[in-house]
Amino acid sequence: MHRVMLEGRGDLAEWRDAARGLAMAGVPPEEVEWVEKGADKQLFWEHDAAPPLAGSRQMTVPPVFIELAESVICHSDPARFGLLYRLLWRLQVDRRLLDVASDEDVSLARLMAKSVSRDAHKMTAFVRFKEIKAEAENGRRGFAAWFEPDHHIVARKAPFFQRRFADMDWIIATPKGSAAWDGQKLTVSTEPCIKPDLADETDELWRTYYASIFNPARLKVKAMQAEMPKKYWKNLPEASLIPGLVADAEAKVLDMAKRQATEPLPFHQRLQEAVARVPAAPQSLSGTLEALREEARHCMRCELYCHATQTVFGEGPADAQVMFVGEQPGDQEDLAGRPFVGPAGKLFDQVLSETGIERQALYITGAVKHFKYEPRGKRRIHQRPNLGEVKRCRWWLNLEIELIKPKLVVAMGATALFALTDSKMRLSDIRGSTIPLAEDRMLFVTVHPSYLLRIPDEDRKAEELTRFHADMTAVHQLMQSFS
Ligand code: URA
Repeated sequence: MHRVMLEGRGDLAEWRDAARGLAMAGVPPEEVEWVEKGADKQLFWEHDAAPPLAGSRQMTVPPVFIELAESVICHSDPARFGLLYRLLWRLQVDRRLLDVASDEDVSLARLMAKSVSRDAHKMTAFVRFKEIKAEAENGRRGFAAWFEPDHHIVARKAPFFQRRFADMDWIIATPKGSAAWDGQKLTVSTEPCIKPDLADETDELWRTYYASIFNPARLKVKAMQAEMPKKYWKNLPEASLIPGLVADAEAKVLDMAKRQATEPLPFHQRLQEAVARVPAAPQSLSGTLEALREEARHCMRCELYCHATQTVFGEGPADAQVMFVGEQPGDQEDLAGRPFVGPAGKLFDQVLSETGIERQALYITGAVKHFKYEPRGKRRIHQRPNLGEVKRCRWWLNLEIELIKPKLVVAMGATALFALTDSKMRLSDIRGSTIPLAEDRMLFVTVHPSYLLRIPDEDRKAEELTRFHADMTAVHQLMQSFS
């Protein structure tokens, strides 16, 4: 058995020299005992058990092993030396060993590397500098920090702190060594430090900062503990606040909710204005489309007007022979005050022009005249109107039909079909056919253009577009039969 004793403070060269000697001499992993100096109970190392350093075997390793070993060697588990040696040994016969994620040695090494990298990340997040030297003659201020890493990461992270805090003198002391910067030179030592007393008024500053950014409504205790594990708390001034903040969080959220309820939502002002408006005396419809449009501008038949920008009434000639009915205005229609000007409208226009239908000849409207949506961040996400909303808005649609007297009404989508027939017929059962309506009117049923925009599969989308195209060609033929 060969016994190798190492300092083992994250120094890969030390392990590499010993491992290379053993491997070249053909010593298999099971014949080597790796000992870390501090962890050894025996004070003296029996020299006759020293590893042979001469041998003839050639050793090569892939660069990815070096990269992995540089991390693993920083781990504090004394088993890391033996693990790396086993990997080194096995790599000589299996060059692709590190690609085998399920291999026990490989997976253990990767776990160790991950733990080291996490520890290094925590060091960048949780080092708290305290000023220990006010501005010196050279104009530089001095700071010190105490941190307790799990692994030997100080040397690895020191260059990060040098870059980040180049304009001040600092020392980071840890039980696993220290790093110091004086503006000229970065000094790293693996000598363990003793914890200094560094409490000062900046602790209070950290606490104030933490309390102000702590949002009880967003509290997720598990996620917080993963982000700021308890073992780091003792050196974080703000951590003393955490138990109290967590305990009070629920009450704070309830309180916030209570207070929020008294703050009016943005649309309340419009609602209140509308309510305060003296209801106009019932206007006798003067019988023109313009009068109807004006009346619809003030529509409060359902709640949708509270959130929408404006009523989007139908548009087109008052004597149009064909009326198209969609569902409800979308985001862009709501802003423009005109139907079918957004993405669905663009597709609609394109198919109309490809099939020879002139948009100017049509009266185009919606089953519902106000945009219904759900705010999500800065976006307004379209929501289908419910049956009640469609029924209330039908009042306008019926008046539009009454005034325009179209020969053909084209229902685009299920909402329009329901608004026009009051029945829940399946659109797919009657699509592309004509259905008689009152007063010798015809109803033609097709899909809504926005349905085509939502189809994710490109082949299906092309198929459905062709069908919509065919529907519009049929509408064009019907239109020609009118003249
Ligand atoms: N969808 C509709 O039904 N109408 C519009 O105006 C726009 C999209």
